Amino acid sequence: MTSVLVLNGPNLNLLGTRQPEVYGATTLADIETMCRDHAADLGLDVVFVQSNHEGALIDAIHAAKETHVGVILNAGAYTHTSIALMDAIASVELPVVEVHLSNIHARESFRHVSYIAPVAILRLWSARLSDGAGCTGKAAQADVSLRDHLMAVIDSRSLEELWNRHVSKMAEYGFDRLIYGYTRYRTETSLGDPDDFVILTNHDRKYMDFFLDRDLLMHAPMVRWALENDGAQSWRMIYEMEREEQLSVQARRILEFNRDMGVTAGYSISFKPVTARTKGAIGLTGLAGVSQDEIDAVWAEHGDDITLMNNVAHLKIMTLPFATPTRALTKRQREALEWVGDGKNSHDIALLMGLTVPTVEKHLRLAREALSVETTAQAVLKAAFANQMFILDAQKRT
Ligand code: DQA
Repeated sequence: MTSVLVLNGPNLNLLGTRQPEVYGATTLADIETMCRDHAADLGLDVVFVQSNHEGALIDAIHAAKETHVGVILNAGAYTHTSIALMDAIASVELPVVEVHLSNIHARESFRHVSYIAPVAILRLWSARLSDGAGCTGKAAQADVSLRDHLMAVIDSRSLEELWNRHVSKMAEYGFDRLIYGYTRYRTETSLGDPDDFVILTNHDRKYMDFFLDRDLLMHAPMVRWALENDGAQSWRMIYEMEREEQLSVQARRILEFNRDMGVTAGYSISFKPVTARTKGAIGLTGLAGVSQDEIDAVWAEHGDDITLMNNVAHLKIMTLPFATPTRALTKRQREALEWVGDGKNSHDIALLMGLTVPTVEKHLRLAREALSVETTAQAVLKAAFANQMFILDAQKRT
């Protein structure tokens, strides 16, 4: 029978009692049972080895070549230190899958390094942001290559799908709360009506209300920075401004509120505008308790990839239909506007839609109201800006 080695490294024999707030209550014996059950379904045989010694793990990998078709390896802390284990895997040419129970990317920065990764065919770790649930046996987070991730983002059919993907990818780098904003209505003095902003966030309501209800957005130091710059910027800048007493009263209030909400360290990216009226930016907040120094270290290593992923997400967001509840169009309103966009007058549209002229006029008036504009020409432009015109069936839900 095809046999797989499940190899566990140091301290994993203590699962169940070891740091339950991180690893949960699941014991290694529980994990063995889960693996055996699953392997039986797949028609595989599994052999379990656990050792607290680096040499014993290396010996097990060497011996595996003779008896197993592959290895599932949780090397514990040796993941982050053992070149010898990496060499052992490279020497036997067996497929090795690197696994972890916790979300190593949301923990201390030294756990972000893996010597197993370069020689593993796949990496899996917990997708949870806060740990403690133990091994659920459910699918974990996979180290999808940058290329595969970007392809999946490009293929997203809705903002929801894209945003979920982006949020979980950013969490791998320790950014657990994001706020993305985009406007097409920027002028010298304003960013436009907040109802027209594309805002995507996984911050809680309280956090968002603080900014949007009180008109504080324009006072936030990183928003001001984003309006005047393109590229990526560490939030270290805010603390330097604070030290040099350069923050306005409103900015200090925002800083205080952010501290209360555990929003203390992060990075912002401001996207290159495509027209004089547009601006998009994203704020990436590091996990509560993680210092700006740690965030800056993550950025030094992965900043270029993170910037690339955010830029691709931004470009894709600009192409997907977006409608806030107050701006949503009905099917009839959309259809009437689309005919206007095609150059038809009310009489043509009435014939094309099989309606009376007053009914067509009514749909167009309601479309203008929904979009909060005075003229139908403006309504066509605004609906087009929000990608609400000529949308595909697959996008109708958004
Ligand atoms: C671990 C993560 C390692 O950083 C840690 O040293 C372990 C367990 C995990 O499964 O989450 O021992 O590999």
